[in-house]
Parts: sequence; C-alpha cells; structure tokens
Amino acid sequence: MFEVNENYLKLPGSYLFSNIAKKVSDFTQAHPEKEIIRLGIGDVTQPLAPAIIEALHKAVDEMANADTFQGYAPDLGYEFLRNTIAQNDYKARGCEISADEIFVSDGAKSDSGNIQELFSQDAKIAVCDPVYPVYVDSNVMAGRTGTYDPKTETWSRVIYMPTTMENHFVPEFPKETPQMIYLCCPNNPTGTTLTKAQLQEWVDYANRVGAVIIYDAAYEAYISEEDVPHSIYECEGARTCAIEIKSFSKNAGFTGVRLGYTVVPKDLKSKNASLHDMWARRHGTKFNGAPYIQQRAGEAVYSQAGKAQLKEQIAYYMKNAAVIKQGLKDAGYTVFGGVNAPYIWLKTPNNMTSWEFFDDLLERANVVGTPGSGFGPSGEGYFRLTAFGTYENSLAALERIKSM
Ligand code: MLT
Repeated sequence: MFEVNENYLKLPGSYLFSNIAKKVSDFTQAHPEKEIIRLGIGDVTQPLAPAIIEALHKAVDEMANADTFQGYAPDLGYEFLRNTIAQNDYKARGCEISADEIFVSDGAKSDSGNIQELFSQDAKIAVCDPVYPVYVDSNVMAGRTGTYDPKTETWSRVIYMPTTMENHFVPEFPKETPQMIYLCCPNNPTGTTLTKAQLQEWVDYANRVGAVIIYDAAYEAYISEEDVPHSIYECEGARTCAIEIKSFSKNAGFTGVRLGYTVVPKDLKSKNASLHDMWARRHGTKFNGAPYIQQRAGEAVYSQAGKAQLKEQIAYYMKNAAVIKQGLKDAGYTVFGGVNAPYIWLKTPNNMTSWEFFDDLLERANVVGTPGSGFGPSGEGYFRLTAFGTYENSLAALERIKSM
C-alpha cells in the first residue's frame, strides 16, 4: 500500500477560510430567508478598474492573432512587467531592486506557501501571532514544525511572537534564534504596522543572527501613514536578509485574476547557495509562468489611468474601514487597525471567545467575520472584519452589530 506525506495528517481541521465557508453554508441552508453580510475573508467586491479591463481585452485580442499570440510565458515573468514593477515599486521609492530579482507568479498565497521549500528541513520558523495561517500551515506540510499541542494550539518547533494590544502589536525579538522570520506588514489580521525604524531593527537583527525575513507586503497599497515603509528594501541591509512578497489582489482587485510577485535579491546567500538562483530553479521546474493576459493586466495597474483609478478604489475601501472602526468605537468596542490596512481588529465583548463571537454575530446579526484565534493562539479574544465589502453592506453590518 502507498504511504502518504504524514505531515499533512498533523494539520488540525481544515484551512481557516474553508472552515468559515462551511459554517456559513450550513447556516444559510438552515435559514434560507436570512440575508447574510460577508465581512469574513478579505475578498474584494469592486469590479476591476477600466484601465485593467482595457488591457485585458487588448491582450485577449492579441491571443486571437497568429502574429501576436503568446504561448508559454517566461517562467520568471515577462520583461515588460518586471521592468514596470522594478521602476514603480522600487526605483521610484529609492530601493535598489532590479528587474531580474523580481519573480512574477500567480499570487502571493502560492509564493508565501512555497518559499519555505528553499530552507533546510530543520530550519526554525518564527511567526507573529496572530498572522496569516498559510505561513505555519505550509511549514507543517513540509514537516518543519514538530508536534501540535491542541491545548495551547501551538507547534513545538514554531517560535510564536505575540502581537497583541499589550505590546501595541509590535513583535519582540524571540529568545531562541530562528532561521526564517515571517513578517506581514501591514499585518493580516490585525491591520497594524511597523514603523520604518522598527522594521530597520528587524533587518539588523536578521543580519546579525543570519536569519531570512520573509516579508509579506500584500496590503502595502493601504498604507496611509508617513513613517510606515512600503517595502522592506527601504531599510538598510535588507538585500542580504529579506525576501519580499507582493500581491495584485488587494491593491487592484485581482483575487479572481491571480497575479503576484516575489523579490529575491541576488545578495541573499547562505554559506553555499544563492536563494535567488534556487528560487529561479524552482520556478523553472515547477511553474510555467503567470498567463500573458494577466501580466498585461498587471502592467496596466501602473499606467497613469490605472494608478488614478486604483487610488479611488483603495479610498473606497478605506472609507468603509473608517466607518466600521468609528461605528464600533462609538458602540463601545475596543478596535484596532483600519488606518493602514483594510482590516478592523476588535476585542470580543464580554470575554467571549473568538468562535463564540463568530457564532453570535452570525446568528443574531447575520454578519460573517473571522475569529481571531484562527490566526494563532494570541488572536483568541479578538475578531476581524474586512473593509472589502460594499459601502452599503459595511453600513448595514455596522447597524446590525450595534443593535445586537
Ligand atoms: C484573508 O482573508 O486573510 C485573505 O483574503 C486570504 C488570502 O489573501 O488568501
């Protein structure tokens, strides 16, 4: 009989958002008359911007013509997109990143799940707690996280760095030295950020202890405060210790289009290997490139019209965030986030657990959110609402929550 990768069997339950979807589907089946407002998964609701639609149409037409048809995309991404990213996301911000250090992919989720393959089996990971569940789960699948303790909901070989209201959502350097450090900034789920000075301390720390920071900047476009960095490469020394992962999902509504990229600087080397070369080798073997049509759409994100239209789209979601945050505050909730990120992070009322509040909200207000404990043990007692809904639904959800 064949044997399976036993590491998969160690994963408790199903993936957080699949779990929620199942609960909501059970509820709708039992109460088909109830109108649910979904502020759970961070999925966008606004249609693609006109500049992006135009680029998509044009690219589709090119595929219909033998002279302009495109087959396999280069596995690291088309030059036109890599150059555009290097110029706009890095050079324009004074960061020294070149086009050949950018690897275009089908999204930040795949990259943040796959990047751990480059590290040794016994590399120890450190994660902020709470954080996007993909980082820990993908390392569980790889057999790097030791054993699971259902009581504490922690893995024996994962270093958890609590980020809660008590430490103002700023992780402390761990006592034990990790080799991989996952930082998500602005953070999913708390919506909080690190200042440039705080991030610089992490870069210095990583260089000092010989660790690699895997920096997930999926929500970068939502940063509104001056002292929050848009890229880790704004920090001195980041080229020798940091990988940066970016998404087109949140800044341009590509959750259903799929496009992202990862930056692996050429200076990022272990004793005997270049992570850049290894990631290139991996792309070559396991990936046939993000589709041409999507990459043309990605290019349009950086066009003048695209930039202007997306600025409006982001302002739309951030208006939702401001309304939800203020409304909850007025109703007596303790609320965080929502300033540099489209997530509102609230303390559950009356000492309810995160899942108790989830059930209560679903049953009494017919509103779906995400239980904080799904993002890590220190998320217990917190709850996440997204600002990615429509304005009307955000207002309606708020009214329902207030009247609970
Ligand atoms: C979330 O809700 O945390 C995200 O939308 C999930 C994702 O980006 O994969």
